[in-house]
Amino acid sequence: MQINLNIPQLVSPAYYPLFTSSNRYLAYKGSRGSGKSYATAIKVIVDIMSHSYVNWLVIRQFFGTQKDSTFATIKKVAYDLGVAELFKFTVSPLEITYKPTGQQVFFRGMDDALKITSIQTTHGSICRVWYEECYELKREEDIDTVEESLRGNLPDNGFYQSVLTFNPWSDKHFLKAKYFDEKTRKRKTFATTTTYKDNNHLNADYVEDLEDMLRTNPNRARVAVLGKWGIAEGLVFDGLFEQRDFSMEQIAGLPKAVGLDFGFKHDPTAGEFMAIDQKNHIVYVYDEFYKQGMLTQQIAQSLAQHKAFGLPIIADSAEQRLITELQQAYGVPNIKPAGKGKDSIIQGIQFMQSYRFVIHPKVKGLLEEMNTYVYAKDKFGNWTNQPEDANNHAIDGLRYSMSLFTFYKGNQYMNYQERVQAVKNIGL
Ligand SMILES: Nc1ncnc2c1ncn2[C@@H]1O[C@H](COP(=O)(O)OP(=O)(O)OP(=O)(O)O)[C@@H](O)[C@H]1O
Ligand SMILES: [Mg+2]
Repeated sequence: MQINLNIPQLVSPAYYPLFTSSNRYLAYKGSRGSGKSYATAIKVIVDIMSHSYVNWLVIRQFFGTQKDSTFATIKKVAYDLGVAELFKFTVSPLEITYKPTGQQVFFRGMDDALKITSIQTTHGSICRVWYEECYELKREEDIDTVEESLRGNLPDNGFYQSVLTFNPWSDKHFLKAKYFDEKTRKRKTFATTTTYKDNNHLNADYVEDLEDMLRTNPNRARVAVLGKWGIAEGLVFDGLFEQRDFSMEQIAGLPKAVGLDFGFKHDPTAGEFMAIDQKNHIVYVYDEFYKQGMLTQQIAQSLAQHKAFGLPIIADSAEQRLITELQQAYGVPNIKPAGKGKDSIIQGIQFMQSYRFVIHPKVKGLLEEMNTYVYAKDKFGNWTNQPEDANNHAIDGLRYSMSLFTFYKGNQYMNYQERVQAVKNIGL
């Protein structure tokens, strides 16, 4: 079977190097929707079909996120290219096999590093690695360990090559010095930046939303729209959050609550599901829905699907009608408006800052907001102690859910004086 190797028909010029370069490292940072993942998935298929020695290792920080991202994208690309019947896709173990030769694509998580270096191939060698969303990778040494395991001569003038794709949320990340800064980066590296303009498969509405963000939320747009390194300065929750995998058993004994912030056209509706360890001051965020354009019915359905019923739900009080609809028309139990009043936002944030946040890998909206929620600057460019009112949908939801554990007396939101006292009591 003939595969269409007409690369210019498949991807935009920014991605040609994926198919023409023999550099050791191809590092693609980029905006949302710039086409990085799709283009790399094309490369996965094309390299296997055109070089019989090639097997792929696809790595993300968390193995559990592979099936719905990299695996699904490669599968989609195989169908889009019309070659899917040449491949076998299995979920357990998560693998893709090229039927004519037995060449394979293996999927691994850095969270289980031992399973990475012990892979046996049946045909050819592992000589291609795709590090997807590698902003999530925590330890530089983990990449080095994988790279060091790629050795041995390859046939047919074959070469080793690793592709890195990510959104560059912070310029403090080790990826910058390792692959981008000319003075410090690894040799034989091709590094580039792509934006939504490099992807002509986006719908107009999505592009308009991105372009709108340049005006409404320049801090986030820097990364999400322009693909530039984020400047992680003045983060409100700096150093207080980490992405980590954990099981529901590990948080089984902890009180749980759901926070809900309503958006619609431009802002997402965010439902944040958390468990709180008040003794050790840790909040575990174990689930989320985070989406624009959600109608009341969809919000009710999402609450049900994510198992919110049975938990207290605290919702954005600016939308009383929505709350009443959820209660009365959709039977959502145990939902109440978040309390508000003088300084309630800043008090809620101060309370949050006395905690550390462990964010489950499937909770993406909150993680992005934590990486972009900053203090505002005054007109002289100095930091104020007021957060900017942007990137705070999941964060507001979480704040509402946490308020239940300090700012309520019984069922009643405290008055201003009581809240001031409550903040004092936690030593802030
Ligand atoms: N070459 C292409 N051919 C067809 N469709 C494409 C192509 N590139 C991208 N797309 C489509 O555009 C969308 C966005 O692309 P993709 O997911 O690859 O972007 P991304 O850069 O990985 O974004 P993010 O930073 O959000 O992960 C996808 O839904 C994909 O189907
Ligand atoms: Mg992607």
